[in-house]
Amino acid sequence: MRWSERQRAMLREMGVPPFWPEVSADAVEDAAPVAAAPSAAADVPVAQPAPVLKAVAQERVAAPVVPKRPVEAKPVVASSAVAELGARPAGIEQMDWPALREAVAGCQACGLCQSRSQTVFGVGHPQADWMIVGEAPGEQEDKMGEPFVGRAGQLLDRMLHAVGLTRAEAPADKQVFIANVLKCRPPANRNPLPQEVAQCEPYLLRQMALVQPKVMVAMGRFAVQSLLKSTEPIGRLRGRVHHVQGIPVVVTYHPAYLLRNPADKALAWDDLCLAREVLQQRT
Ligand code: URA
Repeated sequence: MRWSERQRAMLREMGVPPFWPEVSADAVEDAAPVAAAPSAAADVPVAQPAPVLKAVAQERVAAPVVPKRPVEAKPVVASSAVAELGARPAGIEQMDWPALREAVAGCQACGLCQSRSQTVFGVGHPQADWMIVGEAPGEQEDKMGEPFVGRAGQLLDRMLHAVGLTRAEAPADKQVFIANVLKCRPPANRNPLPQEVAQCEPYLLRQMALVQPKVMVAMGRFAVQSLLKSTEPIGRLRGRVHHVQGIPVVVTYHPAYLLRNPADKALAWDDLCLAREVLQQRT
């Protein structure tokens, strides 16, 4: 099977070079390198100012939306502060959406609260069919209070667009919900520490339980390891459907990795197609 015109149009949308060889999806899959995506958010260069996205969460079940405003960045604190752990709010597992949002906003369960400008809860439809999970806010996200607004986010938006999805306001089958493993930016975009991931995990799990997406896409090593509790490389975990809390999860490369390795966009395209198939089977 060769790429159809529609598939090629979608790959173009994702920025796959037009000279990409016309091979079947199967052949591309077979040729897939078995490699872990490197830490993603950590080295996302932000070349342009973040776009002001009109896609503030469509809060069907939540308090009125407060428009996101850039906040002055606080100076990055010494890394010795990073491992300090505080108490997490009690009862996260029972919280509704507004309570969860508030708990995240006030969280002081790890040292990242000292260096963040603000928490980054997530964006999109609170009952979205699709939930996307990334790693952690970077500099732009910390400023804007919204996930994936830097260069990696622009690629993510193009990838979503290629499968008919958006973060902008739309019905639940078109508007995704995007969240990160960490709700606070690690200083200097370093990798999340295991204890930070552990402290933040209940927030993500509660987001999943409340959104109840029909399919999730875990992007990059940290999202995959945190959700699947696996240290297998992405290359070995992608291409099949996993389950977390009963929700089907498809694994793919982080957009920041894809910016550095554009040839692998075709694999990410396969992964999005797999997620779409899962969803079609569930509806
Ligand atoms: N990378 C991520 O994983 N998440 C963001 O929000 C931004 C960059």
